[in-house]
Amino acid sequence: MNVVIVGATSGIGRELWKAYATGNNKIFVWGRRLPLLEQMKQERKEHTHIFPVDITKTEDASLCIQKIRQECNSIDLVIMCAGIGNLNDSLDYDVELATINTNVVAWTYIVDSFYKILEDQSEGHLVTITSVGGLTSSPLAPAYAATKAYQIYLTSRDYDVLKILFLAGNIVVRLILRQVLGSPPPKSYRKMPWLTMRRKYSPSR
Ligand SMILES: NC(=O)c1ccc[n+]([C@@H]2O[C@H](COP(=O)([O-])OP(=O)(O)OC[C@H]3O[C@@H](n4cnc5c(N)ncnc54)[C@H](OP(=O)(O)O)[C@@H]3O)[C@@H](O)[C@H]2O)c1
Repeated sequence: MNVVIVGATSGIGRELWKAYATGNNKIFVWGRRLPLLEQMKQERKEHTHIFPVDITKTEDASLCIQKIRQECNSIDLVIMCAGIGNLNDSLDYDVELATINTNVVAWTYIVDSFYKILEDQSEGHLVTITSVGGLTSSPLAPAYAATKAYQIYLTSRDYDVLKILFLAGNIVVRLILRQVLGSPPPKSYRKMPWLTMRRKYSPSR
């Protein structure tokens, strides 16, 4: 199986890489932190193809997509995991802009580009990792919540489009709203209430 994981150097993406980098699978892992990508290559050489790239640089991202197309006949699974989130109740515009550039602008380019490739192939899985943070607005991290809502909306829309247009094909689009129950949130999310209000999601805790 040929699998693309965009945002694989840490967190969820890295765990997915570990799970998929076995058997005959070829995994194309993306991220900005080259040393981490090199470490992954070292650990699972025959399964891992590294793509050091900042997805907000569209031309670089486009080159990576072209390279992957040249390297494999078809792509079975694309997991769009890359994302950023910061607390920003002071509405620092630079923080909001960086979040929008990553979670909306770059995200749309990657998701739409791979969607078209799967459409050409008439098969494949496209998975987006969004967040329950997108189900409600947040005064503490306004752009994060809004960009995650955008991702949920766009993926859901694509799913409906797919159901209509590709009923006879074999493309599946999945939306994952990550719930963090049972696992400690990463440092950058620690103060985000929707990720830490466990009682709301799990009354027994
Ligand atoms: N962990 C949670 O509890 C949680 C909860 C809800 C939703 N999520 C969502 O799940 C996804 C993954 O989160 P995570 O917790 O695994 O976070 P993470 O450990 O910070 O991983 C984010 C990944 O995205 C990549 N990335 C970010 N900006 C990028 C850019 N401009 N270009 C290329 N790659 C970029 C990072 O790679 P580099 O830094 O190497 O570029 C990293 O591999 C995010 O979309 C997040 O919103 C996570």
